[in-house]
This record gives sequence, structure tokens and C-alpha cells, in this order.
Amino acid sequence: MTAQTPPDKDWHIDLQRLRAETPGCSSRVHLNNAGASLMSSPVMGAITTHLELEAELGGYEAQDAKSEEIAAAYQSIARLIGGSARNIAFTENATASFAQALSAVPFNRDDVILTTRNDYASNQIQFLSLQARLGVRVMHAPDKAQGGVDTSKMIDLIEQHRPKIVCVTHVPTNSGLIQDIQTVGAACRSAGVIYLVDACQSLGQMPLDVRDIGCDFLSATARKFLRGPRGCGFLYVSERILQQGLEPLFIDMHGASWTGENSYQAIDSAKRFENWEFAWSLVLATAVAAEYATSIGIGAIQARVASLVSLLRRELSEIDGVDVLGNDDELGGIVTITVQDCDPTKIVTRLRSQNINVSAQGREHAVFDYDKKKVAGALRISPHYYNTNAEIESLLRAIGSISTGAD
Ligand SMILES: Cc1ncc(COP(=O)(O)O)c(C=O)c1O
Repeated sequence: MTAQTPPDKDWHIDLQRLRAETPGCSSRVHLNNAGASLMSSPVMGAITTHLELEAELGGYEAQDAKSEEIAAAYQSIARLIGGSARNIAFTENATASFAQALSAVPFNRDDVILTTRNDYASNQIQFLSLQARLGVRVMHAPDKAQGGVDTSKMIDLIEQHRPKIVCVTHVPTNSGLIQDIQTVGAACRSAGVIYLVDACQSLGQMPLDVRDIGCDFLSATARKFLRGPRGCGFLYVSERILQQGLEPLFIDMHGASWTGENSYQAIDSAKRFENWEFAWSLVLATAVAAEYATSIGIGAIQARVASLVSLLRRELSEIDGVDVLGNDDELGGIVTITVQDCDPTKIVTRLRSQNINVSAQGREHAVFDYDKKKVAGALRISPHYYNTNAEIESLLRAIGSISTGAD
């Protein structure tokens, strides 16, 4: 294995420093970055510093005291994904971002929502809920034979049905598939269709630029590959959407001002998609995570994650009884496997007792994909740049023992 894999020290990433700044690395092999990555000390420091200030000054007073840093947090996210600070709304998580965006679309009966067979479970449930309540039609573009959405068929569907919105999850929760969001974006732009991208699993592990993607909305969360805290997310909102006057259905007194008995005025920026109350410590920590990722270099992060994923795919497929799902060119930071006669949730528990973190998924996480692959669920292994080859080897040994029944 090591012969085909560059040693950890050869990466353009200062692994030693980054691991020293990641307290969790000292005691666990954390391969659940698609769940929530290990936070770095600067991120944790940003949270505790602001909480201490809130305890000392009062919550609202601490917010005022840190107003410049809070304004800069919007800029940090804009630097990471393109756009400008006025196009960023902070939220609690990716699902909240997605729901705010979807709620802004003025659906009529029979309008079409066009999506893919690999879009995130909660997004699919929201589409079905809209279908039940408003009578919209939900269409799924077909996949190519080798996997991933067939963009030419998707473009045909856009031209044929003129959907009200197109929604694509960049990297699904259940595989390393990376969808071609740029090609879909170009089609949406030329058809003038609203385009919502779920970048929850891609943010922080690969370059994202909303101008290249051509999206109107991009939803994301802080805690996954960005290595921010739990409980914070954001939504990018394009100028097109702001100028069209689209606003979330349940806009509040932070997103709008109450101007008269029967009137309100939405504010001009993406902040109209926010709610009034915030855990500002988490927002500030998310900005630190964004700056941290930018300073490492998103290109270098992507290269290292892809290399660890291909190492995992290659070596796991050599273990008797292990089936590695999906294709070898799916190099987003998620590898899903089945282990013969072993329930993934039991494997998670066994590995956790050995200080190795992975996660388990059932069919309900990805109905289309797991049905197509004829599995009831899978074990999900999601490495990040701070994982070492030695950590991967320890996981492989542990899975080998489980699969041969030695453990
Ligand atoms: C692809 C994808 N989208 C959205 C989400 C939802 O993110 P959150 O839990 O922050 O709402 C997840 C969570 O795993 C995800 O994997």
C-alpha cells in the first residue's frame, strides 16, 4: 500500500502543524468528516472567546462589541465561494438554508421541480412535501450508466419542462460522486431557471465558485469538510434573486422591517434570508474555519482527500467480504462499503471502541442510490486532509478483522 501512496510528508500541507492544531487527532482516528469534522484549536478558540465575552458583557452587548468581526465573517465566506458579503446569509445548518431558499420560490400547481437521483434525503422530502401541499411536480433527471446525473438529459428536461427550480446536490451524503454542477448551471442560466446547489458535503474539500457554477442559491453547513462548529450554516443568494425581490416565506423582523399596519419592507441584501437570533460565537468560528481552509489551500485539500479516497477504495476492495460501492473515479471524500454479514451500525460501535470514527447509513439516507446498488445501507468512511496513511492502515486492519470474523 505505501509503495503506491506518497508518504504523508510529501503533501503540500503541513500535516504535523495541522494535526497539532487538531486536539481530536491525538486520541482518535476520525474518519467521519462527512458527519462532522474535528474542529481546529483556532475554531474552538473563536467560540469560547466569544462565549466568554457574552458571559462578561451580556449577549447583545458582546454582539455590538464584535460588530466589525461579525461583518468580516460574511466577507470570509464570500472569499471562499465567490460573490460578495451582501450575498451571504448565515443560518443554523444546510437544511435551514435549503428550506429558506425553496420557500422563496413562488410555486403554482403543476410547476416542476427538477432534481437528481442523488440529491440529499431531506431535500427530496421537502420536494415531496411541496408536491403534497401545493401540487407541484417533482422530476428526477436520469443518471448516466456509469453514475452521476446525465447532464444532457437534464438539459433536455430543462428545455422541455421549464422547471420553476433546478436543485442539485454537488456531493451526495452517500458516495464520493461529484456532480457536474457547472454544466447544469450554464443550462439554467440560458433558460432563466432558478438554480439551487446543495454544497453541504463539498464545501471545504474542493473549490467552489458561485460565478462558475451559475447558481442562484448555494446552501452549506459549517461542521463538515469546512471544519467549522455544529449549529451554523449559510446560504448564498445571487443578485438576480435579490433584484427579483424573492424572499423567504417566513421572513422575520431581521429580514424585513414592519413599515405599517399592512406592510413590510424586505431588506436589500441576502440578510433577508436570515432570522433575528444568532449564536454569534458559531458564526465567528465559521469564519475562522473558512479562513483556515483558504490558508491551507482548497486545491491542496482536494488533492489530498482524493488521494486518501483512492487509497481507501483500492485497499478496501482487497479485503475479503468487503464490497466498495460506486466507481473508482468518485473521489469526493466519502467511501461507502458493505461488509458481508455485518450490520453497518454494529461495525460503527465496534470501531468506536477502538477509537476509530466512521458512520452507518440506512436505505432512507439515499433511497434511489442504495436501491440501485441493491444494498440496505452502508458503512460510510470519510477522510479529510489531516488523516494520515497510518490511520488509514489502522482502519483497514480493523475492517479486515471484522470481515474475517477475527474481531
Ligand atoms: C449532501 C447533504 N446536504 C445537506 C445535508 C444537511 O446538512 P445539515 O445537517 O447541516 O442540515 C447533509 C448532511 O449530511 C448532506 O450530506
